[in-house]
Amino acid sequence: MQKLEIQGEKKLYGTIEISGSKNATLPILAATILTNKKVVISNIPIVKDVETMVELLRTLGSTIKLNKKSKKIEILNKKNLKTFAPYHLLKTMRAGVLVLGPLLSKYKIAKVSLPGGCAIGSRPINFHLSALKKMGANIKIKNGYIIASVKENLKGCLIKFPKVSVGATENVLIASCLAKGKTSLRNCSLEPEVGDLIIFLKKLGCKIKKVGKRGFDVMGIKKLKPAKHKVIFDRIETGTYIIASALTRGHIKIKNISPKIISTEISLLKKMGVNIIKKSNYIVVSCLKKLKSTSIVTKPYPGFPTDLQAQMTVLMTRAEGISKIKESIFENRFMHVSELRRMGAQIDIKGNTAKIFGNSKLNGAEVMATDLRASVCLILAGLVARNKTVVNRIYHLDRGYEKIEEKLSKCGAQIKRLR
Ligand code: EPZ
Repeated sequence: MQKLEIQGEKKLYGTIEISGSKNATLPILAATILTNKKVVISNIPIVKDVETMVELLRTLGSTIKLNKKSKKIEILNKKNLKTFAPYHLLKTMRAGVLVLGPLLSKYKIAKVSLPGGCAIGSRPINFHLSALKKMGANIKIKNGYIIASVKENLKGCLIKFPKVSVGATENVLIASCLAKGKTSLRNCSLEPEVGDLIIFLKKLGCKIKKVGKRGFDVMGIKKLKPAKHKVIFDRIETGTYIIASALTRGHIKIKNISPKIISTEISLLKKMGVNIIKKSNYIVVSCLKKLKSTSIVTKPYPGFPTDLQAQMTVLMTRAEGISKIKESIFENRFMHVSELRRMGAQIDIKGNTAKIFGNSKLNGAEVMATDLRASVCLILAGLVARNKTVVNRIYHLDRGYEKIEEKLSKCGAQIKRLR
């Protein structure tokens, strides 16, 4: 099993180029199932989850080509696709369940492995399934698979999600594009990745209209157009490197981004004392002042993202005084805390709130990654800890961070992968 070794206490200076968003790429790839026209997608992040989604589409019979050098994907599905998404691909990449909506909508039948839970929570998909049932799908669960079918067409109707869900919004948005009539979705996720999916679907010719604060109306269509799309930047990768720069008291230029999309994160970090200069497609991050403590609650967009909660916890260990972070999205997203404690962090957990005592000096240690964002938080801790930190099970990291050791070493971090 590969590890990453980090020699701590190095300031980061230089430039980091942000990759395309993993969480936008995955639903957009699933949506390509809808069309038999040519699709070209650029700014693809070369990360494990995207390669797994490409393999899943190939297993379905998609003629999909991933060019890792140009970071482009070309798809031209001339033949009908298969409609069986196997467990061995979904067990490591839960977002594979996003093929359910498009397969059912286009081919009227689908057998998709239940994605199962993960380290951060049980990750149910009841909102996905109840919405598709309401649209006329017949859905059974058997031997760990979702067996779905619909007689003629999925039928448009009113769908109100009980809770904001990124995946359920995406699955049902995609399915609605070929449904009969109008589907009105309410209490939807407004994550920028959902927005990017909608831009892609509209390029295919889909008819989607924003309604009110969290609503979308989708008019089902029959014919789709060829499309070219550049994936939006990864806002979570961006937030991770902003925190890395502030933590090491360095000076980093972070490029290929649109700062207005991360205004919540930027204003919060500025309040803590991080210096962030914003330009149209990049920011410059430094931090010379003492960091002030703060309190955060993770929320659906435009609130503070749960995917930055672990990384923010590390920054709070360096702030003056006591900070708090309440995790309101997932039920078990403090797995990184026990590992940070082993590095000397003082963190109390009560229910879904972590209380972080500031001004704690972190010491290097051998630690274990448990999920994608917990693993990157341990890298961040290693950057500022005294001596050496070794992060195990970095396959979690490789699912969603492109060339992280390269991007950090180019800014002066002493980090290497141990085979
Ligand atoms: C997406 O997961 C992201 N993954 C997650 O990023 C992200 O943390 C999450 O949204 C929240 O922003 C991708 O986009 C591939 P949800 P998703 O449905 O869609 C509950 C990362 O690190 N829920 O918005 O699975 C659920 O249990 C990953 O990149 C139901 O109860 O998240 C959770 O409490 C981690 N029933 C809440 O809703 C459902 O049917 C939000 O989940 C669906 C969700």
